[in-house]
Amino acid sequence: MELPILPFTGPWMLAPMEGVTEPSFRDLVLTRNDPRELGGAFTEFVRVVRHALPARTLRRHLGPHRFETPVGLQIMGADPDAVAETARRAVAVGAPLVDLNFGCPSKGALRGCAGSALLDDPPAIERLVSRVVRAVPESPVTAKIRAGGENDGELEDIAQAAEAGGARLLTVHCRTRAEGYRDSADWERLRRAVEAVSIPVCGNGGIEGHSDLERLRNETGCRYAMVGRAALADPWIFSGRRVDRREAAGFLVDYARALSEAGFPRRGVVARLKQLLRHWRAGELVTDASRSEWLSADEDGVLSRLFAEAGEAPPLFSRSAS
Ligand SMILES: Cc1cc2nc3c(=O)[nH]c(=O)nc-3n(C[C@H](O)[C@H](O)[C@H](O)COP(=O)(O)O)c2cc1C
Repeated sequence: MELPILPFTGPWMLAPMEGVTEPSFRDLVLTRNDPRELGGAFTEFVRVVRHALPARTLRRHLGPHRFETPVGLQIMGADPDAVAETARRAVAVGAPLVDLNFGCPSKGALRGCAGSALLDDPPAIERLVSRVVRAVPESPVTAKIRAGGENDGELEDIAQAAEAGGARLLTVHCRTRAEGYRDSADWERLRRAVEAVSIPVCGNGGIEGHSDLERLRNETGCRYAMVGRAALADPWIFSGRRVDRREAAGFLVDYARALSEAGFPRRGVVARLKQLLRHWRAGELVTDASRSEWLSADEDGVLSRLFAEAGEAPPLFSRSAS
């Protein structure tokens, strides 16, 4: 049988981020970037513990809208049967690809021996990938790893385990589990992963600006580059377009509206806005000097300032969940 073809439309990817890349944020990023540049995106991980997740949960993560750029559904779990059945349901409800998470360092993931816990057991990675590949033979299955657990000594073994299991793409977050999210990112590890496997590699970790995207590809041989936190600072990072203050505020206003429409109460809308404002740089709307003012403002303060910056009347968001 022919191997499923990777559906990505361009070389750059929006990273899966729990609590961020749900449909409200993700769809705005997708509408503001050219699919020839932003070639792929992912849901935040869905966690599978003992039982496969119901189709309605998977549908909710995929969201109501489809774009030319494919959005992969990311699954984290350690039970091959439950993960495989979740993958089958994900494809049945329209996921164009399934991504397996071997990078999450959270205590919950480690307790369940899932996410980055599996980095210590490459044969288990191979078994899990292979079980999922058999469950969805017509869809690409991709794997996202870190460079290792305590250190990067097993990077090649981990990468080759994912490939041997049948992964069609390997995303490598170049930090180890022990390194968490620290500032420095060693791209030499990405070059090592590229050498170790024959499937395409997507490099991730430490991209700060648009020019880093092509630089990462040139320095490491990765075919794709994935952006996490820098896309929270500037959702236009994929095109490199510099927006003005008003357009930057307009993104956040649209985000607030989308969250409210998705059922977030006012407090939840502002909490999610502040999560972005902690990183935000686009349009110089938030500067190092003004960041603490934005973050310490109350709900009315954040919303009225933001809507004024975008040239719009302040909203009447519901104070309770709908
Ligand atoms: C808030 C947050 C949530 C994340 N959630 C996920 C997730 O659900 N799945 C995953 O594979 N990685 C997750 N990550 C890791 C990112 O996908 C990415 O690998 C990491 O941030 C490194 O890229 P960066 O240096 O460009 O931020 C998360 C990162 C952050 C900051």
